[in-house]
Amino acid sequence: MSAIEEKKAKTDSGAGFILLFFILGLVSSLLTGWVAFPKLLYSQKSQPFDFNHAIHLDMVDGCESCHFFREDGTYAGVPKLAQCIDCHEEVQGGTEDEAIFVEEYVANYREVPWLIYSEQPDCVFFSHAAHVKSGGMDCVTCHGNIGTSTSLKPYEENRITGYSRDIWGKNIAGIKKNTWDRMKMDDCAACHRENGVKQNSVQTHKGACFVCHK
Ligand code: HEC
Ligand code: HEC
Ligand code: HEC
Ligand code: HEC
Ligand code: HEC
Repeated sequence: MSAIEEKKAKTDSGAGFILLFFILGLVSSLLTGWVAFPKLLYSQKSQPFDFNHAIHLDMVDGCESCHFFREDGTYAGVPKLAQCIDCHEEVQGGTEDEAIFVEEYVANYREVPWLIYSEQPDCVFFSHAAHVKSGGMDCVTCHGNIGTSTSLKPYEENRITGYSRDIWGKNIAGIKKNTWDRMKMDDCAACHRENGVKQNSVQTHKGACFVCHK
């Protein structure tokens, strides 16, 4: 090997090292971003106190005793104090969650400020009557198993938009395993397409905005 060739080989391996370090740096920052970004983007809030759906379901007659349609067809959503007060005028069990509920809310006739996991932006129009009554859909399709759970998960709020994480989903790669993993515009539209709801307009995304927007 001549002196010149030897020098060239050295520079090449130097460049190789720089490239290797560059790739390692890139991969590690991507990995950090992958793990850290969702934690930075979402802040966790807890519900005012925990609520056990499963034990309550043994005592009442189905979901409708708390989540029902009003006479005008609108959905009552999360229950008001009025649906709890008959049983919780006095403390029933020995849990701290119930003590908070009875002392801070029932005793003061104060409504519980529940955080709504599925809450959509104000501009979105959603009707439970259309989906549950006309469409015959199951709560689990869109909400997962909250209705039979023994405790409430933390509420995760997007620091930029202020929306619940249930809209954009848990998986930052955008993979959706269950129908209830996400409920953003494309998810609503995809199911509407499959079911032929206002098909042409939703499909072409022209004009049909007012199916879902106020
Ligand atoms: C004894 C009353 C009661 C009964 C019965 C009940 N729930 Fe609830 N449910 C609640 C309360 C209180 C909350 C509020 C907690 C919260 O904000 O998530 C809630 C919240 C929910 C939510 C979360 C909504 C959201 O996006 O935050 C879903 C979904 C739900 N219930 C489904 C069901 C289903 C399905 C059933 C029947 C299998 C059921 N519930 C029966 C009291 C009840
Ligand atoms: C049919 C009667 C009944 C109704 C209606 C009812 N509860 Fe209860 N609840 C009970 C009983 C009984 C217990 C005690 C269970 C135990 O601790 O053994 C209980 C326990 C609880 C607890 C402590 C356990 C837990 O869930 O984490 C909370 C909090 C609570 N209830 C909140 C509510 C709220 C809020 C409502 C209205 C949306 C409600 N309950 C409606 C009977 C009822
Ligand atoms: C097609 C999907 C879908 C189905 C099916 C469905 N929901 Fe919902 N639900 C939603 C969406 C979306 C919201 C948020 C609506 C909004 O913010 O305007 C919501 C909101 C709620 C809320 C909170 C409402 C509030 O603001 O107080 C409760 C409670 C709830 N649903 C319970 C149920 C129950 C119980 C069933 C079954 C009988 C059911 N849902 C079926 C999609 C669905
Ligand atoms: C799992 C499937 C599914 C999902 C998810 C879904 N929808 Fe629907 N939606 C339907 C079906 C099916 C109908 C028609 C029901 C009927 O009238 O028989 C409908 C009807 C509607 C209607 C009434 C349309 C009309 O012309 O009366 C509105 C508004 C609506 N959906 C909004 C939404 C929004 C907003 C979301 C997302 C937050 C959503 N939907 C998610 C299946 C779905
Ligand atoms: C099938 C129901 C559906 C249809 C049809 C639909 N949207 Fe949406 N749109 C949503 C839902 C649900 C959200 C909130 C979740 C999200 O940001 O994806 C949303 C969010 C948006 C937002 C962001 C609003 C915000 O506050 O962040 C804009 C802008 C928007 N839609 C515009 C449109 C336009 C323009 C059309 C017509 C071409 C349209 N949408 C049609 C369901 C729908």
